[in-house]
Amino acid sequence: MAPTTNYHTNAISKLKNPALFIQDAFIDGKWTPKEKKFDIYEPSTATVLGQVSDCALDDFQQAIFSAVEAQETYFESTTASQRGSLLRKWNDLILANADDLAVILSLENGKTLPEAKGEVLYAASFISWFAEEATRSYGASIPSSTPHTTLTTVREPVGVCAIITPWNFPAAMITRKIGPALAAGCSVVIKPPSETPYSCLALTKLAIEAGLPPKTIQVCPTKDRQAAAELITSPLISKISFTGSTEVGKKFAQLAAGTLKRVSLELGGNAPFIVFDDADVDLAVEGAMFCKYRCSGQTCVCANRLYVQKGIAPAFTAKLTEKVKTLQMGSGLDKSSTQGPLVNRAAVDKVHQHVQDALSRGAKIEIGGKAPDKHGFFFEPTVLSGVTQDMVVSKEETFGPLAPIFQFETEQDAIRLANDTEFGLAGYFFSKDVGRVMRVAHKLKVGMIGANTGKISAPEAPFGGVKESGYGKEGSLYGLAEYQNIKSITIGNLDK
Ligand code: SIN
Repeated sequence: MAPTTNYHTNAISKLKNPALFIQDAFIDGKWTPKEKKFDIYEPSTATVLGQVSDCALDDFQQAIFSAVEAQETYFESTTASQRGSLLRKWNDLILANADDLAVILSLENGKTLPEAKGEVLYAASFISWFAEEATRSYGASIPSSTPHTTLTTVREPVGVCAIITPWNFPAAMITRKIGPALAAGCSVVIKPPSETPYSCLALTKLAIEAGLPPKTIQVCPTKDRQAAAELITSPLISKISFTGSTEVGKKFAQLAAGTLKRVSLELGGNAPFIVFDDADVDLAVEGAMFCKYRCSGQTCVCANRLYVQKGIAPAFTAKLTEKVKTLQMGSGLDKSSTQGPLVNRAAVDKVHQHVQDALSRGAKIEIGGKAPDKHGFFFEPTVLSGVTQDMVVSKEETFGPLAPIFQFETEQDAIRLANDTEFGLAGYFFSKDVGRVMRVAHKLKVGMIGANTGKISAPEAPFGGVKESGYGKEGSLYGLAEYQNIKSITIGNLDK
């Protein structure tokens, strides 16, 4: 199929602040163009959006050295309240530039403009949250068992952090990590996603404008995995925070063990979404629409398996299908679109394979089911009924707009089926029975529960999984501690 005309050139020139569209690395406090570049695609048209500097091993090494220097010269001498003020200024600049940031995000990721704007605000919320958390980081005074002795603790920054983020949330996954890192007093070296580096580069420009000392943030876009591995193996890096696949997360954990780095891993999910017979069916449909089709089904917390109790299954399936019919698939920047494309061709192929596998084993298409004959990486929002545990969709994360409906008989069955996965990120269920709400919330083996809601993400909510979905919490009152060491100070012989 011939490529469509690029309309992104027009969109970029219409930005209020076109300088936010940056293609260079940011190393040692300077925008650093590299001769070697790699192409970034616009998913809505499958055409090249731009070329970004491709960092090599020596760029990562320089960035790490420079971040260490910033750690020693700047962060060792600032107060939490100074860091909080800088983060507040950065938050204000993100909000002031939210429209431009949303256009850039929509172009590189494909999500619709309202969704992209929502993500920019979500991204800013982590900066303002951690601006406050910076100043609420307390140590303890502990009664000592030794006479004439005082025992206290202080929280110290872990040191230079490597931040590696995914393409599905090009802005919010950056800020959810570097917000707490900077608040704690850690400089960061970021490898932004190679599919969507532009949001990170624009956010970095605004951070520097807000007054963050340039060397505290380094951004190294790359396609070179060997070069990026320096972030995991360098003894100068103290902590890694990674969001991405379980497969890659396990490799990083193994590599990081070489220098015993602190590691936070937010990995794959296979979220169950359970609808009990006693649920409010409209509420359940609303929840499924949000947590299945948000970002075209490309979130780690997406409902991946919809378990619906037998009695309510026909009504739920019919109502969900009706709602899905109203989704308008189209280019992210097109005002009429409510469902954008997937990130690339491989993502489309994966959804196709999951649908084909389910159909070959007896599932039925209620709506959608194929990639449309259209430019860009699109897949129709899809609902499948008659899905069973022997199908690939029950085991693997689809990461696309496919809602597979399984039926179950009893509460025990639902819990057993929901927990029958190596993943444990999010789980959702709908029921009006308060006792059941408490029981099921305790029995689902996941890090995050949505009961009678599909919305669980917020800066104040601890984000993170259990089992092979990783470890560590982001956001919330726990997020800062991921970037801090607790030091105990025992002062003895006070009266001698
Ligand atoms: C993710 O998919 O990794 C993040 C989703 C969210 O923050 O809601």
